[in-house]
Amino acid sequence: MQPTKIVDLFAGPGGLDVAAEKLGISTVGVEWDSAACTTRRAAGLETVEGDVRLYGPSDFPEADVLAGGPPCQTFTVAGTGVGRRALDEVLRFVERLVAREDREEIEKDLAKLDDERTGLVLQPLMWALDAIDKLDRPFRAIVLEQVPAVLPVWEAYAKALIEEGYQVDCGILHTEAYGVPQTRRRAVLIARHGKDPVTLPVATHRIYRKGAARDSGDTNLLPWRTMADVVSRPTAFEVISNYGTGGDPKARGRRGSGEPSATVTGKISRNRVVSPNGDELGRFTPSEAGRLQTFPSDYPWSGKDIGQQIGNAVPPRLALHILSAAFGWDAPSEALLQSLTTWGSRPTREPAPEDPAAVESNQ
Ligand SMILES: C[S@@+](CC[C@H](N)C(=O)[O-])C[C@H]1O[C@@H](n2cnc3c(N)ncnc32)[C@H](O)[C@@H]1O
Repeated sequence: MQPTKIVDLFAGPGGLDVAAEKLGISTVGVEWDSAACTTRRAAGLETVEGDVRLYGPSDFPEADVLAGGPPCQTFTVAGTGVGRRALDEVLRFVERLVAREDREEIEKDLAKLDDERTGLVLQPLMWALDAIDKLDRPFRAIVLEQVPAVLPVWEAYAKALIEEGYQVDCGILHTEAYGVPQTRRRAVLIARHGKDPVTLPVATHRIYRKGAARDSGDTNLLPWRTMADVVSRPTAFEVISNYGTGGDPKARGRRGSGEPSATVTGKISRNRVVSPNGDELGRFTPSEAGRLQTFPSDYPWSGKDIGQQIGNAVPPRLALHILSAAFGWDAPSEALLQSLTTWGSRPTREPAPEDPAAVESNQ
């Protein structure tokens, strides 16, 4: 399929949108964090600064693809009672939405949840169902990304979307298996309306295993990429994590520059960078941290808490693979993957004044 435009909910600084723009697809992101919006505008990405819950598909009539990376705090404690309860609640809401129970009643009950963020993960489903029920114009493709703990929600979404005429695939992807120089696992759902089967992107690189030699493993796949592949420093280096392995603050994770980075989080600036003999080196700059996430090295990080913006994002290189698979396209070419190294200056694209979303966001 050839999409016209992607509406990206909870769009952050634009990890998914950078990939989409590189694929030649225009995007509009809905995001309420002013710092992330500052970065987006500096990058020239069309942005509606506001609460996703106040908008709907009718505000974005051109968009035929829905993407979303809702915030994940309540699910990251999965395995604990709180996480499990949040998940059970969400799964019940999915059933009620799909059964087309009265939306006002559902929204009233959502407002009663202990943590209102739990309900945000339902927003993409509400948008998908509203496009069908209110506009009679289903999104042609849907792409969702979240932490692994959210996979059961995506599985419930998959069941619902299949009933609505979509082909769907969902599962956990390892970023380093797509050439991102970082180990990070994400629950991804891709769906396309119609009959053509949909499958998650095929891995191109090997999965990283601590201690396993880089040249060992499946010879059909490329070796994982390293921090040194994207961060140019005069010497080898080691990164000492701010987090203790297994919760032990003394057992801080360490990764060498010849390995992929550990998962880039919002606290990346707290990680120490040292030389092989232990000398303190400069910590990662925003550009370097962005490169570990495969953002272009000249991406115009702006506003407050840039580390958090970077840690929140979908790695654009992974997004190139995910979007291509969602649209039924071949895997991205080497030239396209290479094009992610630079961004350049782009004119800011604000929503057109007659766009109702723009009018509403200005009120
Ligand atoms: C996990 S990040 C998404 C990152 C994004 N997919 C990317 O690739 O850069 C979640 C984002 O949702 C935003 N957010 C949270 N609640 C929101 C709401 N109600 N409306 C709009 N944005 C919201 C947060 O500010 C954060 O930037």
